[in-house]
Amino acid sequence: MKPFLFVTDLDHTFVGNDAALTELSQKLDQHRQAYGTKIVYATGRSPILYRELQQEQNLMQPDALVLSVGTEIYLDGHDTPDAGWSEILSTGWDRELVLKIAKSFPELELQPDSEQREFKVSCFIDQQVAVTVLPKLEAELQKCELNIKLIYSSGIDLDILPQSSDKGQAMQFLRQKWKFAAEQTVVCGDSGNDIALFAVGNERGIIVGNARPELLQWHNEYPANYRYLAQDLCAGGILEGLKYFGFLE
Ligand code: GLC
Ligand code: MG
Repeated sequence: MKPFLFVTDLDHTFVGNDAALTELSQKLDQHRQAYGTKIVYATGRSPILYRELQQEQNLMQPDALVLSVGTEIYLDGHDTPDAGWSEILSTGWDRELVLKIAKSFPELELQPDSEQREFKVSCFIDQQVAVTVLPKLEAELQKCELNIKLIYSSGIDLDILPQSSDKGQAMQFLRQKWKFAAEQTVVCGDSGNDIALFAVGNERGIIVGNARPELLQWHNEYPANYRYLAQDLCAGGILEGLKYFGFLE
């Protein structure tokens, strides 16, 4: 068995199927101890909301944390974000201006303060309204030459991030830092903000059986033989995929 880099979303992916999560955590921990496999959580949650979930679910300690939709990377239990990554994101990012433009759209409702981060402005917007409003918002932001990207998840969450960031780019940053080949890297997710994990390169991908329509639609448009669509839910689907790719027995 060889070490691999395991990168997973949390809500409705790693978390949400308790019995399977217990089994998966045990297997990953054994693999980490025996072979040096690395475990990364990549979530949209801020540090505050991550800690809540970590305690509620008693999640195992990861080797790195990717928080706030890839805009913050925390290595080896550190509580300040990796400065090299923040430096990359700061080029061309003007948070105040992004916020001002977002606030000028009455259809957007700002998410709670805890979810507003240095490199992330987050709002709520209803699916029906989003279809027409998001292109207008993007055009407005681009008029000001703001180097941004919009990520829409779960029919409600809108994240505005620097162009150079998302979960996929953060994952690649770690993969290159730790020197894992794409073939020895596996990413897992269920919703819109996970598309970047699957789309950035040819890492192995596991889409859990309970994936959201936005991810399934993307997967159907861009199928790839290094991506596995699981039957089982959340951690159960991850176990299925890890066996399919031969990462676990
Ligand atoms: C998490 C974050 C939220 C974000 C969403 C989708 O729920 O708390 O800010 O919008 O993920 O990325
Ligand atoms: Mg999720």
